[in-house]
Amino acid sequence: MNELDQLVSSAQADFDVAPTPAELENAKARYLGKSGRVTELLKALGALPFEAKKARGAEINQAKARIEAALQARREALAEAELQAQLRAEALDVTLPGRQRGIGGLHPVSRTIERIEAIFASMGFDVAEGPEIETDWMSFTALNNPENHPARSMQDTFYVDLKDEQGRWLNLRPHTSPMQVRYARAHAARCAGMDPMPEIRVIAPGRTYRVDSDATHSPMFHQCEGLWIGQNISFKDLKFVFSDFVRQFFETDDFDVRFRPSFFPFTEPSAEIDIAFRSGPLAGRWLEVAGSGQVHPNVVRNYGLDPEQHIGFAFGMGPDRLAMLRYGIDDLRLMFDGDLRFLQQFN
Ligand code: DAH
Repeated sequence: MNELDQLVSSAQADFDVAPTPAELENAKARYLGKSGRVTELLKALGALPFEAKKARGAEINQAKARIEAALQARREALAEAELQAQLRAEALDVTLPGRQRGIGGLHPVSRTIERIEAIFASMGFDVAEGPEIETDWMSFTALNNPENHPARSMQDTFYVDLKDEQGRWLNLRPHTSPMQVRYARAHAARCAGMDPMPEIRVIAPGRTYRVDSDATHSPMFHQCEGLWIGQNISFKDLKFVFSDFVRQFFETDDFDVRFRPSFFPFTEPSAEIDIAFRSGPLAGRWLEVAGSGQVHPNVVRNYGLDPEQHIGFAFGMGPDRLAMLRYGIDDLRLMFDGDLRFLQQFN
């Protein structure tokens, strides 16, 4: 092996062990750089006579071309290795389960309220919403509560540190019944001069508040008010509407309904509505599901209507209670603890 062949194999060996592109370029400089070994050989040509210079020059250039080829080959090998390493690092395991988008879901009470709304809407009822901070007049006076009624007391009702125009403390509404008054007054105003006045048929679901907390009471809970006022609406209509609601809500005909005499200041006569399933886990137990009654003439007057002309019924039920019955939940507090393990079961 002559001296140039040795130079080529030495360069080749140096290049092949260079582990990185930077070190490869250092190795290259040792052969092809300004004072590299090939460059030095070429510089030395100047001292040779013309013919010798030509022959030697051709040999050196050949060797230089082989070194450059070796360099190029190593550059490509390193680039390829780098690419492969990068691909390995970014490799996707397509067999891993996908990351789910957290899409959330409806709370069981929201589902229940939507269900109640859909059923009553199918019977021609409007759905109304109203304020959770109420005036004393709307929550109590308009609903025929006497001034000294215990519901007004601080033990039962949350008050807000603000007064209305009458100088009375605002309250967190303890029931949705004020919505009877708000809706009926707006309806009466809208329909002024119409004879006969179109019927009022509305439900009003929403949050309500009372000073109460145990396994069956929460300081925040839900109610859904119902009101049907017309020229000739009676208890038989209430019984039909409510039974039909129960049938659709629980998807069964297999139950009995009973009206149990009761008292509310805003209705006369008043009744609790109880239902009892004839089969299933709750078979034979009377369950109280709503308060109801024929709207008291004083309350009709507070709607801005003449009780001689307008008659009907109201009811108030608890969507939380209905959700618990429908889903078989035994502790109301589960509904409002926000525990995802509980809530996820409904979605
Ligand atoms: N407001 C009553 C309550 O909070 C429920 C109720 C009873 C509503 C009778 C009514 C009704 O509309 O007619 O307990």
